[in-house]
Amino acid sequence: EHAIPQTETTAGPRAAILGWPIAHSRSPVIHGFWLAEHGIAGTYERIAVPPEEIAAFLAAYPEKGLVGGNVTVPHKEAAYRATAGRTDAIATRLGAVNTLWLEDGRLCGGNTDAHGFVANLDEGAPGWDAAPGPAVVLGAGGAAKAVLFGLESRGFGPIHLVNRTRARAEDVAAIFPGTVRAAGFDDLPALLPDARLVVNTTSLGMVGQPPLEIDLAPLAADALVTDAVYVPLETPLLAAARARGLATVDGLGMVLHQAVPGFERWFGLRPAVTPALRARLLADIGG
Ligand code: ATR
Repeated sequence: EHAIPQTETTAGPRAAILGWPIAHSRSPVIHGFWLAEHGIAGTYERIAVPPEEIAAFLAAYPEKGLVGGNVTVPHKEAAYRATAGRTDAIATRLGAVNTLWLEDGRLCGGNTDAHGFVANLDEGAPGWDAAPGPAVVLGAGGAAKAVLFGLESRGFGPIHLVNRTRARAEDVAAIFPGTVRAAGFDDLPALLPDARLVVNTTSLGMVGQPPLEIDLAPLAADALVTDAVYVPLETPLLAAARARGLATVDGLGMVLHQAVPGFERWFGLRPAVTPALRARLLADIGG
């Protein structure tokens, strides 16, 4: 018996996520799972890029040896500026890029967060958009914009955008004229009876944050409640909805599904969101 030495002539395609800070990003776990699952000799790494360096980093991207990757907080808007004119329709609308790739040596940008949102509901609540109508979205940050795009694309409206800071809700609503209307938490008792769907995109309910305390009693019995927060998996909001007998979908699938289009672009194979991947990410969150 003799061993054949493994000569690693190529390390395979390299992808990376850029953020600041970046240590807690779970994207490397997701992409690492898929690379191993499919035996692809590629890598997906974390790169911490401080805000003052992101513009130069993106300008030099084609020389970094990367095939592409992701961009997270606080660099999604900088990535949009760096790829202006070479962004997909969603990124163009939202002014935010979360996925990068190279075409003819030039940096291009897309936004897969809206896909993550709708694909999670397609999987967790099949038929959720069969009779679209009014919806309530809580929070007006980056996640909210992607959720609003996803809901609008599936025919929902009017969508009431409820935020603590009213001016921020109005700024985001202006991206979706005719569909999204700014509102405040005081408006919820009047808005909930007609809502087909309630989505939390605020950080409330996340581990270490106060719970999101809203009274779900006015919601119709067939309304759906979902949360972009996925640590913990069952947020106080989802627990309250379940206690009321409402259908719920947790937020873990949103982060898993948003990763699918990027992986396909960089590594050439459309990966699946499986129970094994969910379990892998849950283990990572728990540990
Ligand atoms: P992301 O980009 O991840 O969506 P973000 O831009 O930091 O996150 O936005 C966080 C959201 O949570 C905002 O809508 C914020 O409300 P404000 O715009 O009024 O700041 C909301 N949020 C955070 N803490 C909150 C709190 N204690 N009460 C109500 N809303 C809160």
